[in-house]
Amino acid sequence: IRVAVIFGGRSAEHDVSCRSASSVFRFLDRDRYQVVPIRISRAGRWQVGTDGAEPVFPAEPTGQTSLASILDALATLRGVDVVFPVLHGPFGEDGTLQAVLEMARIPYVGSGVLASATAMDKAFTKTIVAAEGIPVADGVVLRGEEQVTPADRDRLGLPVFVKPARSGSSVGVSRVDDWDDLAEAIALARKHDTKVLVEAAVLGREVDMAVLQRPDRTIEVGPALEINHSASFFDFDAKYTPGAAAFTIPADLKPEHRDLLEDTARRVFEALGCAGLLRVDFFLTEVDGAAVVVMNEVNTLPGLTELSQFPQIWRSDGLSYPDLLDQLVSTAAS
Ligand code: DAL
Ligand code: MG
Repeated sequence: IRVAVIFGGRSAEHDVSCRSASSVFRFLDRDRYQVVPIRISRAGRWQVGTDGAEPVFPAEPTGQTSLASILDALATLRGVDVVFPVLHGPFGEDGTLQAVLEMARIPYVGSGVLASATAMDKAFTKTIVAAEGIPVADGVVLRGEEQVTPADRDRLGLPVFVKPARSGSSVGVSRVDDWDDLAEAIALARKHDTKVLVEAAVLGREVDMAVLQRPDRTIEVGPALEINHSASFFDFDAKYTPGAAAFTIPADLKPEHRDLLEDTARRVFEALGCAGLLRVDFFLTEVDGAAVVVMNEVNTLPGLTELSQFPQIWRSDGLSYPDLLDQLVSTAAS
């Protein structure tokens, strides 16, 4: 089976994608798979490399347009059975690449165009998930030059989280503890997206759930992962500095809370129409003594370094990283 692994990309998560891909290259079973590495530069130029423990790429041709580079790379997809997009953020995780692959009839790992596009946008994700009756954080969406109204401030209270609608790894996200800092936080988020969310903080335990679709189309939810860290929120540094956050798998949960998280993760996967894989990030909180799970956000192409949540969840469930990759590619190919 020939698998093209596409990584890098134009989003702010370029480096994270390179780290995810480095683990994928290391662990894809070369007895089963012939691997074609394709790297997308920050400028959006595609380059086909040669497989190896670390793939090797030719020097980037100067003056080549993105379009010419994409056409060259697409030509090499002719003999490929499955594409594995190891890309995070816009132009990779958001349905754009998926649309090209649909047009070319090339199977690929993960969700299709609509689910990818919806899940990339935190506001649309919340709308769909809330319509299913699943709790989400209260918030407002700012488009263009819109600002938070005094009534919104009163309702949301402090702290609030300010997020670009379509970003990842907490890039452009701020926690605001004082309304005087709100404008700066919104300006930062607007550097990444014209659409910005301002959300009420949800106080609770941070629990991630992993959903995996098997080649026979059945959907499995892995053991819950609880995140602990001492940062003011699970920001980029807490996510990517070794030792800054600790994961507990399985999280120490009452059985009824675990069941609720599993059931809700599955409903989110289905409501968004996902395929292949999904990580759903929750807050487990209490309202009037009853447990409530609040969906925070989803990732259709979650971080895939060996130490990332998604592979760790499956490893703790007995599925090694190479076997996980095998399942992802097999489901895409089947
Ligand atoms: N968006 C980053 C890669 C994550 O989901 O872990
Ligand atoms: Mg993300």
